[in-house]
Amino acid sequence: MTGLMRVWCAAIGAGATLLALPLAGYLALRSGYVPMAIPTRPLPLERYLAKTALHAELRRAAPRRSPFPATARAIESGAIIYRRNCAFCHGLPGRKTEAAARGMYPPPPQFFHPGAMVTTDPVGWSYWKAKYGIRLTGMPGFHASLSDRQLWDVVQMLRRADRLPAPAKALLLASPVQRAEPGS
Ligand code: HEC
Repeated sequence: MTGLMRVWCAAIGAGATLLALPLAGYLALRSGYVPMAIPTRPLPLERYLAKTALHAELRRAAPRRSPFPATARAIESGAIIYRRNCAFCHGLPGRKTEAAARGMYPPPPQFFHPGAMVTTDPVGWSYWKAKYGIRLTGMPGFHASLSDRQLWDVVQMLRRADRLPAPAKALLLASPVQRAEPGS
């Protein structure tokens, strides 16, 4: 074989491999054997892809600190916002996890369970996640439904989930009809 033929053969081989890989991936997706049901194991690389890209974006784009002070009033407003918008998935102190939250993958962290709290996470990261949501998970983005102030209030409250003042805790657990709420 001449040198030129060898180069051609290598180029054709490389081209065929490049085409074969996406084709094999596509056929696997169409086969019906890629597990998409929640109670099956995570897909290969699913967690890695989701977490690596998320953390890189958080490092690049999340704000470092809140523009609003975490006053008692802000924490209480955060508790009300949380009960209305987040408790269904992320739970309440001393309450059982909701049925829908138990059936999700990845599961929504129960923010009042020790071990699942975000009390040591950078507050700007929690803010970014609450604002924009997390792709490939059930975490919705609240950018269109909560103001910036409300988003900071709710994440400041979550940051103190292990040492909430009594009035904020009472607001978390009050049923909406029990108490007149500011802004309702
Ligand atoms: C429909 C269910 C659902 C609702 C409602 C919801 N979340 Fe989530 N949330 C999730 C899921 C699922 C995850 C886990 C995502 C993952 O594993 O990456 C999550 C993750 C998070 C995280 C990241 C936690 C961590 O340990 O990294 C924060 C912060 C968060 N949610 C805040 C909120 C706030 C604040 C609200 C309300 C304004 C809210 N979420 C409403 C499902 C929900």
